[in-house]
Amino acid sequence: MTAKTYRRIVLAARPVGEPKESDFKVDTQPVPEPGPKEVLVRIIYLSLDPYMRGRLRDVASYAPAVKIGEVMVGGTVGEVVKSNHPGFRPGDIVEGSLGWQEYAVATDPAALRKIDPSIAPISTANGILGMPGMTAYFGLFDVAQPKPGDTVVVSAASGAVGQVVGQLAKMMGCRAVGIAGGKAKCDFVKELGFDACVDYKAGNLDADLKAACPNGIDVYFENVGGEVSDAVYKQLNFFARIAACGSISQSNNEIPAMGPRLNGLFTGRRVRLQGFIVWDYRDRYAPAMQRMGAWVKSGKLKFREDIVDGLENAPKAFIGLLKGANFGKLQVRVGPEKG
Ligand SMILES: NC(=O)c1ccc[n+]([C@@H]2O[C@H](COP(=O)([O-])OP(=O)(O)OC[C@H]3O[C@@H](n4cnc5c(N)ncnc54)[C@H](OP(=O)(O)O)[C@@H]3O)[C@@H](O)[C@H]2O)c1
Repeated sequence: MTAKTYRRIVLAARPVGEPKESDFKVDTQPVPEPGPKEVLVRIIYLSLDPYMRGRLRDVASYAPAVKIGEVMVGGTVGEVVKSNHPGFRPGDIVEGSLGWQEYAVATDPAALRKIDPSIAPISTANGILGMPGMTAYFGLFDVAQPKPGDTVVVSAASGAVGQVVGQLAKMMGCRAVGIAGGKAKCDFVKELGFDACVDYKAGNLDADLKAACPNGIDVYFENVGGEVSDAVYKQLNFFARIAACGSISQSNNEIPAMGPRLNGLFTGRRVRLQGFIVWDYRDRYAPAMQRMGAWVKSGKLKFREDIVDGLENAPKAFIGLLKGANFGKLQVRVGPEKG
């Protein structure tokens, strides 16, 4: 039976610097009825992602800011509980951007993706078989274009995107080197099959990176920016490629941090740096998702998720994500898989 009320999390204040839990507010609303051609979804998993920090800033960006009082944006996996759309039935598991809440009406069901629970746990539709997995796939294959034998370095290597990048690089016949914060994360990265992992918190980043990349670095999949990237840039080979995926270390800075200016290195070494946004590739998601799904199902591609219980814990978990408190793809279990 569908509940009568549900909880949602709205933006209460625009954070300055590091977000605080008081920047978010939980409120309760009556569960809405879906209109014609609409679908009511009970949300099971909410994805927490670094891009959400950008949505809290009211500045020109590739996506609009969340307004004060609005429900926080977010990817979700849920169960259809009422449908006025011929393409969906109660019980269908769907993935879509329905926000930080327990129930949502999908006003544009065409934007929902039906999930086949026989392939992998349904939470993976927010992770390895969802947006972060597609980011790794297209960022590596299309943007960075590794060749067999290349040394591929990825930062935030134990995270949602990074853990996939290294495994895909290995499949390509590359040397995969991760950079992550702490021994436990590095041990996990090596268990995934990476050739090496450098703990940037150990205090010897330049030397440890050199030891892990004896032939220099051909591809850098950039996830964190800042000092980690400065260290990588110094060891790039001629014709190296950088896939500029994100700079999470800078996301709470109100004024961009200015590090050593190393771009001159790119000139002589003919380095190519390209930024990208995953949805540029959305027309190609379906076949990529099918390939990745087969690898996940067969166990060729492994993944780790970090699942926090309870919608009310989403703000705290999100704040932790921006400091590396998560270990694997961060999600919130908003409700049980079987309603
Ligand atoms: N371009 C796109 O379309 C696109 C799409 C998805 C994601 N992204 C980007 O990809 C990157 C990774 O995202 P994800 O979803 O896979 O997140 P994630 O790696 O699962 O989680 C973030 C990780 O970043 C590291 N980190 C956090 N704060 C840091 C800091 N101050 N300094 C250094 N490292 C820090 C932490 O790992 P450690 O403990 O190892 O430091 C943390 O676990 C982000 O920059 C994100 O914005 C881009």
